[in-house]
Amino acid sequence: MKTAITEMFGIDLPIFGFSHCRDVVAAVTRAGGMGVLGGSGFSAEHLEEELRWLDEHTDGKPYGIDLLMASKYDRGIQQQKLNIDEILPATHVEFVRKALDAAGIPRLPDDNGREAVIERIRNVNMTPDDAGELLEVAFRHPMIKMYVNALGVTPTDVVEACHARGIKVGAMIGQVAHARKQIAAGCDFLVAQGTEAGGHTGPIASMILWPQIVDVAGPNIPVLAAGGVGSGRQMAAALALGTAGVWCGSIWLGSKESDASPELKERLFAARSEDARQTTGMTGAQCRVLTSKMTDLWAQPDAPKPLPKPAHAYLMIEPRMRVARSRNKEWLSHAVGQIVGDMKQESTVRQIIQEMLEGYANAMERVNSAV
Ligand SMILES: Cc1cc2nc3c(=O)[nH]c(=O)nc-3n(C[C@H](O)[C@H](O)[C@H](O)COP(=O)(O)O)c2cc1C
Repeated sequence: MKTAITEMFGIDLPIFGFSHCRDVVAAVTRAGGMGVLGGSGFSAEHLEEELRWLDEHTDGKPYGIDLLMASKYDRGIQQQKLNIDEILPATHVEFVRKALDAAGIPRLPDDNGREAVIERIRNVNMTPDDAGELLEVAFRHPMIKMYVNALGVTPTDVVEACHARGIKVGAMIGQVAHARKQIAAGCDFLVAQGTEAGGHTGPIASMILWPQIVDVAGPNIPVLAAGGVGSGRQMAAALALGTAGVWCGSIWLGSKESDASPELKERLFAARSEDARQTTGMTGAQCRVLTSKMTDLWAQPDAPKPLPKPAHAYLMIEPRMRVARSRNKEWLSHAVGQIVGDMKQESTVRQIIQEMLEGYANAMERVNSAV
């Protein structure tokens, strides 16, 4: 296939695969699309290890990295993140702790529980300072040809540093106003993410958002369609609306390559689209996740208000670790989009892409036969 985005990166397919799992990223790149590693949860050392592995498993083809650089956040809390006991309000900590105790979900072991929580918090990288360190690591890997920033306007010095290394810069956006700011900041392409997407999402649906962003971006800035794409029919719709390719996140969670736990995969394959809902309970910002007793808890009328970014994400580390360790499915929540209702069984990344291409060809035939 040939679009403005395949030309920009010299790849065969306008299909981008976002994942935190290196096996998915490598498989998307090897299949002819472009894998993009979500690097925000890694330490610098761990990221270096993952990127070295990717360099060896991507057949010399390009891949990308995605980091979070929030424009607005509580700097005081971020700087004190390792003194977690002092900065998190006891009301919030106790609210979740008591609910999990009542549900019989064991606490973390006394000897290393706190250290494990701090270690995880250390690796929540949501701010320009945190992400800058990771980007320096990424710069050591020449097959990284794309940097995508989520959560905020990409700082100019970051755009310039990427361009100096031949790395194209993109930004995740959910509203027209955000697109204008990212274009002014020097982005080379945009990822327009509709509300149906998994993870942090805005309020506007893909069907409305994609063409709006295409119009704002104009002919020189390609737009990728994100949010609700898991099949060739959806890919055909995305290209028909003027985008240059698709950016998928949720669909890979159910792949063989995905490191999602068996419990999570089981819940994903049983979920309906309406089970993927927006909540502020997991990170403090609107985030679409698989509903569970955890999201119900934060929706209760007596629940405390979510903490400002990034404190709420820190707060939720311990409860999420408790749920994961206990393998409790009812309390398990994970970012996923409304496409989850179409995810029914495990298949390889290559099969998913193959089916997308067949579905795309069939959709185009159907559309063309109507003329
Ligand atoms: C589990 C999960 C985690 C995500 N984390 C991030 C992230 O760290 N950075 C980011 O830019 N987007 C993140 N996203 C959003 C994806 O990049 C993508 O835009 C979205 O998944 C597309 O919509 P879809 O879920 O319908 O495929 C995440 C999505 C999922 C499902």
